[in-house]
Amino acid sequence: MQRKVNWCTPHAKGNDTNAENNVSRKLESNYFSLHSPMTQALIPLSLYIHVPFCMAKCTYCDFYSIVGREHSIPAYLKSLLHEIELKQQELDLSKYYIDTIFFGGGTPNLLAPHQLEELMRALLRICNLGEEMEIGMEINPGEASLENLKAYKGLGINRISIGMQSFQSKLLTFMSRIHTVDKCFSTFDDVRTAGFNNVSADLIFAVPGQTREEWVADLERLVTMQPEHISTYSLTVEEGTALHRWVDAGHVKMLEETVDTGMYDWGRDFLEKSGYPNYEVSNHAKPGFECRHNLNYWTGVEYLGFGPAAHSYFGNNRTWNLRNLDTYMEGIKVTGSGATDSEIITPSMARNEMILTRLRLTRGLNLEEFSKIHNENLLHTKNNMLKKWADKIVISDSHLKIARTGWALTDEISSDLMSLPS
Ligand SMILES: C[S@@+](CC[C@H](N)C(=O)[O-])C[C@H]1O[C@@H](n2cnc3c(N)ncnc32)[C@H](O)[C@@H]1O
Ligand code: SF4
Repeated sequence: MQRKVNWCTPHAKGNDTNAENNVSRKLESNYFSLHSPMTQALIPLSLYIHVPFCMAKCTYCDFYSIVGREHSIPAYLKSLLHEIELKQQELDLSKYYIDTIFFGGGTPNLLAPHQLEELMRALLRICNLGEEMEIGMEINPGEASLENLKAYKGLGINRISIGMQSFQSKLLTFMSRIHTVDKCFSTFDDVRTAGFNNVSADLIFAVPGQTREEWVADLERLVTMQPEHISTYSLTVEEGTALHRWVDAGHVKMLEETVDTGMYDWGRDFLEKSGYPNYEVSNHAKPGFECRHNLNYWTGVEYLGFGPAAHSYFGNNRTWNLRNLDTYMEGIKVTGSGATDSEIITPSMARNEMILTRLRLTRGLNLEEFSKIHNENLLHTKNNMLKKWADKIVISDSHLKIARTGWALTDEISSDLMSLPS
């Protein structure tokens, strides 16, 4: 079980090139009510902005984030704006439209509304605008005031993801989360009051000390709140984190794999029955509220990432930015780039990635699409492996999917199919 993956349906397309104008109009009313002309020929593009600041470092988190550096936010913003402008000059984006934007972290709510507005203006100038862009933002419980949430809404943010993690105080403490259980509920209420009707909540399970009953209670409580989307992540031990050191030193013991799997299976079934079908290993949504941004990642839509540690995938190239705020800002200033490295995605890499990401999606891998793109009939080339996993997979409607009995083995099955046929 891993974290973070989604699926997307490229939909409304538009070509309103006057983004600046559009933002000003929106500030008076709401620019999403303005319909840009449909342009079938445009290509969807996703934008990601990494906000690397946090109030405290959680014991398990290896995402790039730094504590006590809020005074650097103005300088960081300057670099971001410069990076966005340079990217716009470097790439020909005339055939693209912005489908989704995601402010992730770190903690994006540490940006004041006027700072976010400046960023939005720059981002919306990058290329044509989609007719119904999904613009999402992660927030931490207790860290965004109602006033700020309303301002974010006014800026066009239309999806909020709240990192609730747990409704058990002892588990929040173990994970070094600085919010209380009550803040999960009051922040959710504030997000609703601010007018958001597309809200997601993250919960973590298989935390040392967590009982199955506590996990059941967390999910039952969350379902009573009726968010549109729920992400459930099994706690993973990442190198370089405090949790890793504790586990290594024998101070902390992770839950047995069978317990972890039991919690996952129960949660997936429960959420399904409660109106939240699973659409990706860790993600569940009311129909129509699947996270389009993540789905874009998982289905090969190109994306540009801005900020330290952000990744981009554009035209067969993957690049990633420096994982250090200071060197990233220095890079932008001196060389005009915050990137540390890049790679060309070879056909075999693209093939393997398609298998890996699509098998994490409940809808599975479209075998006809795979064969068209990679000129390979997987049913023939991987016949032996498909036989080996026969009771853990389902093949129907030209899709290869993981069966319920194979959920816990998704990675192993993918891995067997990923190696190229000899
Ligand atoms: C990196 S955080 C950023 C958003 C926000 N700061 C928060 O904490 O929710 C995104 C999600 O990844 C989850 N996450 C990070 N590291 C994880 C780990 N080792 N195991 C499971 N979930 C993890 C977080 O708990 C959160 O739900
Ligand atoms: S989990 Fe979220 S709040 Fe915690 S350190 Fe990571 S990014 Fe920051």
